[in-house]
Amino acid sequence: MNFDINGIRCQFPSLNREINGFPVVYFDSPGGTQTPQRVMDKMVDYMINHNANSGGVFATTVENDEIILNARKTFADFFGCNWDEVAFGENSTAINFKLSQAIARDLKPGDEILITDIDHDANRSPWEILSEKGIVIKSVKVNTQTLTLDLEDYQSKLSANTKVVAFNYGSNAVGTISDAKMLIGLAKSTGAITVVDAVHYALHGVLDVKDLDVDFLFCSAYKFFGPHIGILYSKKERMEVLKTLKISAQKNNAPDKFETGTLNHEAIAGAAEAIEFIADIGSKHHGHLTASHSNNTPRRNNIICGMKAFEDYELPLADYFKDELRKIKGLKLYCPPREQLCTSTISFRLENIHPLEVAKRLAQQGIFVWAGSFYVVELMRALDLSEKGGMVRIGLAPYNTREEIERTLKAIKEIAADDFN
Ligand SMILES: Cc1ncc(COP(=O)(O)O)c(C=O)c1O
Repeated sequence: MNFDINGIRCQFPSLNREINGFPVVYFDSPGGTQTPQRVMDKMVDYMINHNANSGGVFATTVENDEIILNARKTFADFFGCNWDEVAFGENSTAINFKLSQAIARDLKPGDEILITDIDHDANRSPWEILSEKGIVIKSVKVNTQTLTLDLEDYQSKLSANTKVVAFNYGSNAVGTISDAKMLIGLAKSTGAITVVDAVHYALHGVLDVKDLDVDFLFCSAYKFFGPHIGILYSKKERMEVLKTLKISAQKNNAPDKFETGTLNHEAIAGAAEAIEFIADIGSKHHGHLTASHSNNTPRRNNIICGMKAFEDYELPLADYFKDELRKIKGLKLYCPPREQLCTSTISFRLENIHPLEVAKRLAQQGIFVWAGSFYVVELMRALDLSEKGGMVRIGLAPYNTREEIERTLKAIKEIAADDFN
């Protein structure tokens, strides 16, 4: 595969950083990716040349409105939807709180909401607090062997009383990719509203909201090369009837009715540029296109090819990484079985060494990884890791290299070996 890793790396200025004389290895992508120069340039350009509030008649306000509309169109290509189905917000957690509160205005005591044990707290707590209104919250169990959702449990908890089903597309803790289309199909058969957290998945696979037939799906631009904002896809007919929390002066049409107050305009400009970055990479990898893509916009096809190019580059690296980690004495991997779709995120524990200690020792050598529960509380409880520091998590991104993996393997082997000496 002709993946121009050097051409990609040189676009990320932060990759030049050193710690204690070591070039930094950014394996923290599930917490957030690095940012290409062009994204930062767009944000600076916005602040210098187009900085204004929306809806006026002078040059900068008109340009500002164009930038925001263009960003909606760009994200429409990212999601596979129409531009008026794209809303911007503070981050995914805040978006989901606002969404859940709006949906709850039409719910009554006894109605049920189905969430899952593999989810980030951002897609649990906003629903769980609705129990204050007498709404019943049920949670789908995880199979602790395969680290996948327990489908039987899911089906047994779905009923005519289920009004909302909320789950994540990709697990930010262990990388499991859920069969979102199948789960949504089952939820629809009971008439439930579906809400998908695509925050982890969005860096690792193509989003196609029309194919999924999902009602709401959110993600955060800082997980895919952009700044810190969240983006919501809402099916138009759902957003039209949603009783959003809005001030009376706010427009009542989609997507404005979801966007409270002044938006983060410069971040929206940067987030759209992050998608253009993905599309530009995709424009060099058109091998993935088939006749089924012929109705897409050229930019959507480039985005699809960009995401697939990332996957083709990262997944073999992740497989190699996992195979080598498996050979380390005392190391336990937490990843789904080979036949299960998953992202390039790899979690593990070393026997007798606290995950935070492993992360600290790697950090001393400039290798940045996360340790802990990653806000995936129920999964950690099911695995009996809540009181034991959770896991060490390595997250690949398309700017990581085989050399970085070798360096990290060597460092982990040394840490593991120390434990046995
Ligand atoms: C799967 C998942 N969902 C939700 C969130 C919360 O996103 P945000 O930080 O944008 O609120 C995260 C953040 O790490 C995540 O990984």
